[in-house]
Amino acid sequence: MFFGGLAIALWKGPIFTLICMGFMPLMMMTFAVFGGLVKKAQVKKLSQLEELGAHTEETLSAMKLVVSFAQEGVTIEKYDQIAEKTRKIGDSAAKLQGGFIGVFLFMMFVYYLYTYAIASVLINRNVHNPSTGKPYSIAEIVAVTQASQMSMMSFGSVIPIVPAIMRALISAKKVFDVIERKPLIASTPTSTNVVSLEKGIEFKNITFRYPTQLDTARDIFNKASFEIKAGQSTAIVGPSGSGKSSIVQLLNRYYDV
Ligand SMILES: Nc1ncnc2c1ncn2[C@@H]1O[C@H](COP(=O)(O)OP(=O)(O)OP(=O)(O)O)[C@@H](O)[C@H]1O
Ligand SMILES: [Mg+2]
Repeated sequence: MFFGGLAIALWKGPIFTLICMGFMPLMMMTFAVFGGLVKKAQVKKLSQLEELGAHTEETLSAMKLVVSFAQEGVTIEKYDQIAEKTRKIGDSAAKLQGGFIGVFLFMMFVYYLYTYAIASVLINRNVHNPSTGKPYSIAEIVAVTQASQMSMMSFGSVIPIVPAIMRALISAKKVFDVIERKPLIASTPTSTNVVSLEKGIEFKNITFRYPTQLDTARDIFNKASFEIKAGQSTAIVGPSGSGKSSIVQLLNRYYDV
């Protein structure tokens, strides 16, 4: 539709068509800027939704803990806060998305104004059409403006799929963010996926504290060493908070020491 319209317009009045098409960069620029804003708002909305989901999941999966520390009120309050923030961000994202369609139509009408203003000048001044060598006839003006408009309107047919394109771009960005993420715990060139437990497991001189608690005075382990022999059942015993689960996490290399 874009090329067809353009070809007919060029055939009927090349110079006038080029003048009409001179509007296109402005239109494209407006879309690029506004489209970028919409995309940014949508990304923000999605990550805010993620935060809300994470809070909900965290709370529900640790419900016993929440209840045992009587944290129901605090948790609900926090949920309300995040939900309210999510609503506000979703609201402005929706407004931007609606505004995008408004801007598109506005630009189309400005385009009509522009082409008809130029056409009136061409007719008033008896400008000659290079295609025919005679002054522009009304028929040629109408043909060129309509064909150019059709050509430009082909972008209009993109409108219904703009939200889908936006969603695809946003999802793709998220996927690429994950793919391109440099893990904090990087594999060394000698790393292997196959772990042999034939020799057992040795914990040697391990000093560790969680990265989130680097400033707190206490190490979870201070030069802890022990050995679990292969084929042996070993119980890790200790009071709550002594570091039993942390041992398992270190063995899985969720954290580096
Ligand atoms: N992800 C974490 N970030 C920061 N500190 C943590 C984290 N997980 C555990 N801790 C802290 O590390 C210490 C050891 O916790 P850990 O969960 O290993 O204890 P545990 O022996 O498994 O306790 P429990 O018997 O209650 O399961 C605790 O003081 C805990 O508060
Ligand atoms: Mg534990």
